[in-house]
Amino acid sequence: MKVLVATEKPFAAAAVNEIRTIVDDAGYNFALLEKYDSVEKLYEAVNDANALIVRSDKITQDVLDKANELKIVVRAGAGFDNVDTTYAKEKAVVVMNTPGQNSNAVAELALGMMVYAARGFFNGKSGSELKGKTLGIHAYGNVGRLVATIAKGFGMEVSAFDPFIPADKIEEDGVKVYKSAEELYANNQYISLHIPANDKTKNSINYELTSKMPKGATIVNTARKEVVDEEALVKILEERDDFKYMSDIAPNNAEELLEKFAGKVYFTPKKMGAQTAEANINAGIAAANQIVNFFKNGDTTFQVNK
Ligand code: 3PG
Repeated sequence: MKVLVATEKPFAAAAVNEIRTIVDDAGYNFALLEKYDSVEKLYEAVNDANALIVRSDKITQDVLDKANELKIVVRAGAGFDNVDTTYAKEKAVVVMNTPGQNSNAVAELALGMMVYAARGFFNGKSGSELKGKTLGIHAYGNVGRLVATIAKGFGMEVSAFDPFIPADKIEEDGVKVYKSAEELYANNQYISLHIPANDKTKNSINYELTSKMPKGATIVNTARKEVVDEEALVKILEERDDFKYMSDIAPNNAEELLEKFAGKVYFTPKKMGAQTAEANINAGIAAANQIVNFFKNGDTTFQVNK
């Protein structure tokens, strides 16, 4: 049984060691492909793999077609928009994620980006504080909930919108609930995005929503670049001097935005949200255990393509 860890953006070494130990202890063979610079290298490595652990690596139809022995792909992380789950299902390949395992790292980065925006990207000039400011959390999943907890520590007034979570569950955390995205955006200076990228959410953060935000608006995107309508972003940034956009990974029109709106936009060079040793270890261990549990006990608890 070959378990391949294929990560273009590598895990911390400690996480790789933990995964290796779990795989070895189960009596399986461990294989590692890191920082690969061509998809051909991935094709070659998956050829005889029975199980695959990935991060944001694109597991396309072509990759799956090359992986003739593959039974399971675990995306060590939350969002699985990088895996062709439908095609995997056709090929009877189970796809799982590891929800919650890297959430704290992402939540901390979201707050870090808020501070960075509030302090004018550390430009030495007088900025503002997060205390007393309004924060709207768009989707109250594992990351959204942690962002709420940390933001309350900063003294922010926290609210959320999530059509899939009962209002009383959110209110239990002392978080105000809005019944629509429109209301969330209209009532918050800071918006933190935590929606997944799918057909319904792509480009959904549009001009209609962003233009509703009050003065001193900042959107922090540690979710997926695809959920923000990039043309709408240009329009709102052109119209409003008080509008900032902070994103963990650059949008497709990053060059244009950085040139036109310096000091109002910031993008990480590589997706950084889950890039901590702790998150890597948590997600890596969970992924390896889920694979062992799947092969030994048929456990499909975290399958996302049932
Ligand atoms: C996730 O969906 O878990 C995060 O976006 C992390 O992605 P990464 O593993 O590529 O850093």
